[in-house]
Amino acid sequence: MAYHVPVLLRESIEGLEIKPNGTYVDLTFGGGGHSTEILKHLKKGKLFAFDQDEEALRNAIDDKRFTLIRSNFRFFRNFLRYHGIETVDGILADLGVSSHHFDSPERGFSFRFEGPLDMRMNQKQKLSAKHVVNTYSLEDLANVLTQYGELQGARRLAGAICKSREGKAIETVEQLFELLKPMFPSAIQNKMLAQVFQAIRIEVNQEMDVLKQMLTNATKALKKDGRLVVISYHSLEDRLVKNYFRSGNFEGDLDKDFYGNITSPYEQINKKVIVPNPDELKINTRARSAKLRIGRKL
Ligand SMILES: C[S@@+](CC[C@H](N)C(=O)[O-])C[C@H]1O[C@@H](n2cnc3c(N)ncnc32)[C@H](O)[C@@H]1O
Repeated sequence: MAYHVPVLLRESIEGLEIKPNGTYVDLTFGGGGHSTEILKHLKKGKLFAFDQDEEALRNAIDDKRFTLIRSNFRFFRNFLRYHGIETVDGILADLGVSSHHFDSPERGFSFRFEGPLDMRMNQKQKLSAKHVVNTYSLEDLANVLTQYGELQGARRLAGAICKSREGKAIETVEQLFELLKPMFPSAIQNKMLAQVFQAIRIEVNQEMDVLKQMLTNATKALKKDGRLVVISYHSLEDRLVKNYFRSGNFEGDLDKDFYGNITSPYEQINKKVIVPNPDELKINTRARSAKLRIGRKL
């Protein structure tokens, strides 16, 4: 089974507007599909790639212009500095998890398989789904489900989790699945359970905080006219990216300078969000929620 089929490949690489001798960063290496394509456009340029999952390291590309770093991308500037790089020409972030994560039962990301409640992208991290589900208070659990799963009735779901774990810890994907399944009408069961799992995953990997930190750091690291290309997979991420490109802050508040111009650090290259075309969706259904935004650093 393929590790991961790259999503919006042509559109995102075009968005980077690669200079053959430039320095580029792929923050989410995964199966290396985007990195491979970036390298094809480089001559003497360099590519630094990041992934926090050690399993992604096995896809490393043997090319002297390429460096793969195992780290959370929230720290990417520190690593670039270590390699003597202060500013770069383009940064790509293809957010979220890879197909490999969803297809590996032992990682606990998918409710299609029995497996441990894990969901950590970084296997060295302490916080896991088991910890969230078994130790968070009812209020905190309900908040996670409301904020990150955009679920209505989150308190009822959190209450059921708290009641169940009183007797015995919830250890596996299947236990959580069986507990929550009857709480949704059968027609929307899978969709709702996917939202529950997404919410817990976002919490475990602190995805929203990390994304904010990444956007702030990317703005510091990009040269003038450098490109920031972000592919997101759920509305919370996309809203954050959209607001940031438009306004330079996460709330989307439009600050204006003395002359009434909006003070965002970016020009949005695509005014309308880019989504996969029907041909791509035919061969890769996992691309269906992808949204691409491209910014030019001003
Ligand atoms: C959607 S996949 C990227 C796929 C890649 N573009 C390709 O073509 O194969 C996202 C990857 O980014 C990694 N990732 C997600 N968040 C990360 C973070 N905060 N720091 C480092 N890596 C992260 C995941 O482990 C996963 O391998």
